[in-house]
Amino acid sequence: MLRFNSNQLTPKQIEKRLAIQHLLSLNESLTTTIGSDVLKGLMQILKTLPSRYFYDDRGSELFEQICDLPEYYVTRTETAILQKCASEIVEITGHCELVELGSGSSTKNRLLLNAYQNLDLPLRYLPIDVSAGILKKSAKQLLFNYPTLEINALVGTYELALQQLPKKQLPSRMIAFIGSTLGNLNSQECEIFLSQITQALHSGEYFLLGIDLQKPKPILEAAYNDSQGITAAFNLNILEHINWLYNGDFNTMQFEHQAFYNETENQIEMHLRSLQKQTVKLSDLNLSVNFASDETIMTEISRKFDLATIKQQLSARGLVTQKVWTDENNWVSLLLCQFD
Ligand code: TRP
Repeated sequence: MLRFNSNQLTPKQIEKRLAIQHLLSLNESLTTTIGSDVLKGLMQILKTLPSRYFYDDRGSELFEQICDLPEYYVTRTETAILQKCASEIVEITGHCELVELGSGSSTKNRLLLNAYQNLDLPLRYLPIDVSAGILKKSAKQLLFNYPTLEINALVGTYELALQQLPKKQLPSRMIAFIGSTLGNLNSQECEIFLSQITQALHSGEYFLLGIDLQKPKPILEAAYNDSQGITAAFNLNILEHINWLYNGDFNTMQFEHQAFYNETENQIEMHLRSLQKQTVKLSDLNLSVNFASDETIMTEISRKFDLATIKQQLSARGLVTQKVWTDENNWVSLLLCQFD
């Protein structure tokens, strides 16, 4: 007979409270050839790589370590804010189901779930992530810890998931997008993203947004150049991931992590700088790329926001800020918006 640990639910118990929906875009798989985004990025004059390639298993692990770094204040500060304001959020939204874009931040979603649990009403959580593995693992743990929780997980991109959110089952709904991931979109992508949010929301529903605010350059630059070199390892890992996917020969010893604050654009830029003149081959993409010495590949931007400006941008889209919470240094903000 099969036995299950007392800290686990049986598959039957899980099945009753967990739905996992795989969202497929026929369109996307038909129109994008494998690796075309990599090809495009590396063939530009200013080379780039799409930041989604950071996240293989090792990348996801390194990112978790980044969140715990002493220099990386974003996660810690946002968690502290959420700890203080979660019950206020629940007071404003009332009984409400939680949609979360990116399911990685398990401490933070627990703070919200705890606050909603205090209402003593049904709890419903819809995490969205591209990794089915991560969704399943965290869902099982949550179901165990929250006996009344029902989870409807969506495997896919934010764009697809926002187009196909299942029908609301509780009186209201809140979409949470925290961790300043909005800052990783350029201004055009940000506009498109916000319009997808408003298309997914009905009037009266909520959007919870966590953003990193503008602050002195040394603090920002330290956060992306940690003394233990974890961010550097994370950045370089994108090359290993590309090597693995496309049979490439990037030598990570011949590239160096570089992150700096661009004060004109109000953004951190992360690059990989070629330490010498070199040629890299990606056999499966039939690509040979030449690098001059000091030439860089841009791998990520992290925009830093001005509170008044972002509030305006949100309200122009009908997302009216109901309340803003910040830490005592004014480094990070959480905004709770209602769609009018
Ligand atoms: N959203 C996070 C940020 O912009 C993502 C992030 C943190 C990140 N540290 C990083 C992305 C290092 C790439 C490299 O702060």
